[in-house]
Amino acid sequence: PNPQSLPNRPPIVTIMGHVDHGKTTLLDTLRSSSVAQGEAGGITQHIGAFSVPVPSSLANENGVQSITFLDTPGHAAFSAMRARGAHVTDIIVLVVAADDGVMPQTREVIELIKKDREKVSVVVAINKVDKPGAKIEAVQKALLVEDIHLEEMGGDIPAVHVSGLTGQGLPDLLDTISLLAEIQDIRAEASGNVFGYVLESKVVQGLGPIATVLVLRGALEPGAHIICGTHQARVRLMQDSNGQTVKHASPGMAVTVSGWKSLPNAGDEVLEASESDIKRA
Ligand code: GTP
Ligand code: NA
Ligand code: MG
Repeated sequence: PNPQSLPNRPPIVTIMGHVDHGKTTLLDTLRSSSVAQGEAGGITQHIGAFSVPVPSSLANENGVQSITFLDTPGHAAFSAMRARGAHVTDIIVLVVAADDGVMPQTREVIELIKKDREKVSVVVAINKVDKPGAKIEAVQKALLVEDIHLEEMGGDIPAVHVSGLTGQGLPDLLDTISLLAEIQDIRAEASGNVFGYVLESKVVQGLGPIATVLVLRGALEPGAHIICGTHQARVRLMQDSNGQTVKHASPGMAVTVSGWKSLPNAGDEVLEASESDIKRA
């Protein structure tokens, strides 16, 4: 099908950066400010992905309505997907603490970004700007040394100044991500058989094996028969990161799925089998 005729899907964003530069704090603040209190519960309190609606003050009519953030990008699923050459991430947020600057893992992310430059957009989040020791200018210059030319230094990579602790600058971050996603014009088939990835999996007492599935194409609904390597499920229950039951997961959404007959592996592809495939098997 003509890609232009496909619907847009939310951008998939990963937060990366050096140890203790504030990735988790940033994600927690983004998440809690977008989640109504008291919704926690259900299958799991903490899944590997969550969705943040773009505030209506920032969203334009035909633009990006929500952003999918992936947590813990260092974990096994990402290594497995990357090793296979799967490009799941549309946008990388490189977090650099303003009191610590460019550090070894910052450089690792920069190397990754340079390799994937054609497929991935980047925004630099200079974080912890609330700290008295914050040295924004020093960070900007240190990034320049690494060939990361920020827009605010006359280059082409957008940067925002944020504090995951106070929430300062986070609307700017969402706004910048929305703009990058609009430029990328990310589209995906939103109906038919599902294609996606398992982000994480575990066995939960009373539910059996569960897995967080990131949907990239198609629509996932209860009753669907999905296959992941040698593992399979008849989808029973689907929940979002707030523990809310979901009846329909579209591209860009991550949902925790129960109904697995055995535990699938993080990082493996998920395919939906049609009824005829199942009858033939
Ligand atoms: P790893 O997952 O271990 O790599 O760390 P991380 O990047 O997720 O950092 P984390 O969010 O755990 O934060 C590390 C420390 O920095 C914690 O003590 C946070 O409270 C603190 N911190 C994070 N963001 C900010 C911020 O914006 N301002 C200030 N002042 N402190 C922050
Ligand atoms: Na930490
Ligand atoms: Mg962390």
